[in-house]
Amino acid sequence: MKRTANLILAASIAAAPAAAWAQKFDGLAATPQMGWNSWNKFACNIDEKLIRETADAMVKLGLKDAGYQYINIDDCWHGTRDDHGDIRPDPQRFPSGMKALADYVHARGLKLGIYSDVGDKTCGGRPGSRGHEYQDAKTYAAWGIDYLKYDWCESKGINAVGAYTTMRDAIRAANRPILFSMCEWGDNKPWEWAADVGHSWRTTGDIYPCWDCEKSAGSWSAWGVMRILDKQEGLRKYAGPGHWNDMDMLEVGMGMTEDEDRAHFSIWSMLNSPLILGNDLRSMPDAVKKIIGRREVIAINQDPLGVPALRFWRQGQVELWAKPLANDEWAFMVLNRGETPLPLHYDWKQNAIADDLSKRDVDFKQATWHWTDAWTGKTGDTSRRLDATVPAHGVVLLRLKKGA
Ligand code: GLA
Repeated sequence: MKRTANLILAASIAAAPAAAWAQKFDGLAATPQMGWNSWNKFACNIDEKLIRETADAMVKLGLKDAGYQYINIDDCWHGTRDDHGDIRPDPQRFPSGMKALADYVHARGLKLGIYSDVGDKTCGGRPGSRGHEYQDAKTYAAWGIDYLKYDWCESKGINAVGAYTTMRDAIRAANRPILFSMCEWGDNKPWEWAADVGHSWRTTGDIYPCWDCEKSAGSWSAWGVMRILDKQEGLRKYAGPGHWNDMDMLEVGMGMTEDEDRAHFSIWSMLNSPLILGNDLRSMPDAVKKIIGRREVIAINQDPLGVPALRFWRQGQVELWAKPLANDEWAFMVLNRGETPLPLHYDWKQNAIADDLSKRDVDFKQATWHWTDAWTGKTGDTSRRLDATVPAHGVVLLRLKKGA
């Protein structure tokens, strides 16, 4: 008898709709989030002046108009906790306080992000949020924070689902729509369980500004662009509006060649990764400005359909990728991973594209498609062979529309 009652109780709990307080905020990342983060370039060398100047540069360079919105402070902003356990910013580096900084960023039409960690300490050894989750979320909300990157250092056997869900609920309880960016490095396959927990989840360890290297840091490694790309195998089906695979922050303008930077930006756009700039926005070469501001490429990342690209062909160093876009359009990318430029003579009619995930397909024998090169603006159509040179460590990226 008792057993039956328990079963009935369990069944009714399972059927109950999730309470409003136990949900992430909807509508915050209908398309992948775009912004900037301090870590890749500045690591712990950050202060409020850098954040203010970066916000100013974002507006002045037209990057805000291109879609970039978040100015994110990564690790090392922290001071100590006060007598009540409330976290405070480093008084030397952020003397005006976070509320004033958020006001400054908001006044420019941008949003402010911050960083914490599931453990007692962050990766940089600053105070983490363990045991202070609700208190910290409340503090961030009071400061006017709009984005939380939540790291996985010092996790010491903590259950990942529990740790990230706790912070999600803490944000909900603090009642401010804060985008929740999970930085768990893919250790516990967050793509399988986090669609209702965060707005994005890191799929890998940290990125490193190189094409195809592994950079050892002793107990862990950072990864070049090709290594990160290869770790996305099988993950496209888990991403969609409001919950994205995060391939880590961009390294455009951080030491790779122009072709590599263009390929990196194209790949992150094709796979719907968040576009979080990692370079110094206050000074950069024109070539870098052009890459990060290229609206035709950003539009592929921000396409409302939100379906990441499919690799439909691969041979040697060459890969063909296709991404279904809204309004029956497609993006098409040729990736040359190799060390030498690739002369391309591509007969569209030889390769139909079929995508089981989006249930979309295209057969170039049946209809002609018009294409525009997303980087150069050059145009053509699929009735003729595509003749191009794909640079070494580079891409050709096209947008296809039906019709000649
Ligand atoms: C981890 C994260 C990085 C960065 C650093 C900060 O390595 O994955 O993105 O936030 O911590 O210490």
